[in-house]
Amino acid sequence: MSESTRRVALDIMGTRTPPGAHDGFAGLDERDRALVKQLVTGTERWKRLLDWYISAFSHRSLGKLAPEVLNALRLGAYQLVFMGLPAYAAVNSVVECLRAKSHRGFVNGVLRALARNQGHVEMPSIDDGPEEYAGIRYSFPDWIVSRYFESFGIQDALSLLKVQNSPPPVTLRVNTSKTNRGRLLEILRQAGFSAEPGKLGISIKVVGGRTVSGFPGYNEGWFAVQAEAAMIVTMVLDPEPGDLVWDVCAAPGGKTMHIAEMASDGGVVVATDVSRDRIALITQSSKRLGFDNVLTAVLDATDPGATAGAFERARLPMCFDKVLVDAPCSGLGVIAKHPDIKWMRREADIPEMARRQTLLLDTAARFLKPGGALVYSTCALTREENQDVWLRFLDGHREFVPVGERVTFDNGAALDMAIGYGYLLPHVHGTDGFFIAKALKRHG
Ligand SMILES: C[S@@+](CC[C@H](N)C(=O)[O-])C[C@H]1O[C@@H](n2cnc3c(N)ncnc32)[C@H](O)[C@@H]1O
Repeated sequence: MSESTRRVALDIMGTRTPPGAHDGFAGLDERDRALVKQLVTGTERWKRLLDWYISAFSHRSLGKLAPEVLNALRLGAYQLVFMGLPAYAAVNSVVECLRAKSHRGFVNGVLRALARNQGHVEMPSIDDGPEEYAGIRYSFPDWIVSRYFESFGIQDALSLLKVQNSPPPVTLRVNTSKTNRGRLLEILRQAGFSAEPGKLGISIKVVGGRTVSGFPGYNEGWFAVQAEAAMIVTMVLDPEPGDLVWDVCAAPGGKTMHIAEMASDGGVVVATDVSRDRIALITQSSKRLGFDNVLTAVLDATDPGATAGAFERARLPMCFDKVLVDAPCSGLGVIAKHPDIKWMRREADIPEMARRQTLLLDTAARFLKPGGALVYSTCALTREENQDVWLRFLDGHREFVPVGERVTFDNGAALDMAIGYGYLLPHVHGTDGFFIAKALKRHG
């Protein structure tokens, strides 16, 4: 790994831009890009534990350090503790790419002390305080740990925290309008990828850090990159040929594409989102995957009047067979893939999320035809955004009847929605964390 990879990693950590959006990243070869991503996301994932290690050897309080100095310490500590790099490789290159030269001695001293003594750093004891122990050992903020302990109990909460620190594999959803899983598996393997069947009949798991747009079949639209939990949401919605479906919060369009595929042969999906930029991603995916049954519109679905106006102006239908509200949420279920959520999300955001989710469901209900199906999903693991929003919705909309469902995976696990809703859980199902609920709108 070259020094420039560390420099690019440090720059990305400082600016908080996604790696792909950084200028220096584009100039790296594929192997170095994968390493930069690993360094940036790994350091982000383990930030609290890394700070614990660093604090043991720093005479200065971490809160008082310049951001570049703290990030350099975290990057060096990550390489020592999690990548097992020898001290000369882990420390020197980080120190040498520090712009603040006057801090090089300090960073060098702390990292060398950590390299010599990392096995002797004392951890908090689970017996003294299980929540504090879990927050530091698994590198999560206190408020998420407390919520997990309360919702799942200590043992399951510890399993969940652990699983959410493992980067998930890339999963592909086979575009069955163009190919089938067996054929795509063969093509990927022939091209040297380590690919195996996923948990669902339509999914493939790919191991290895190569760029997805370089996979064979990408330009031909033979697959979409999608998490299996997200595939299950559309399976629960169950769009059929000929259906008219509204995907309310559709961008970037992962589920829209799956709906378009399942409803093809006469079915149409209207994909809307409040973000014009993100709607453009849906149009791109429709082209790549070859679906001409996707219509898009920019609208704010928390406002039913504005929604009706936008439908009218775009000459879109106003009454749908099926509606999906895949709502914006706190995102705790996808921390494994996006560890920055641990530190960016605030507990205080949750009530506002729940308020918006409720408004989105109220609008969705208006545009669903009698006899039609409504699916509500989030990648949140908080009761307020899930059961509370959903049960309050059902309470205020007596015309809706919950639907019991069960989705069984190829490995025998299942999503149980017998009471009309259920959770996919990382430590139980081996997927992202999702909440999924379904109800039918009564006739008359
Ligand atoms: C969880 S993401 C949707 C992911 C998408 N369903 C998929 O599978 O690719 C939530 C989306 O809701 C959109 N959104 C947020 N507020 C909205 C609103 N008031 N009306 C419509 N869309 C909204 C966001 O822009 C974001 O794209």
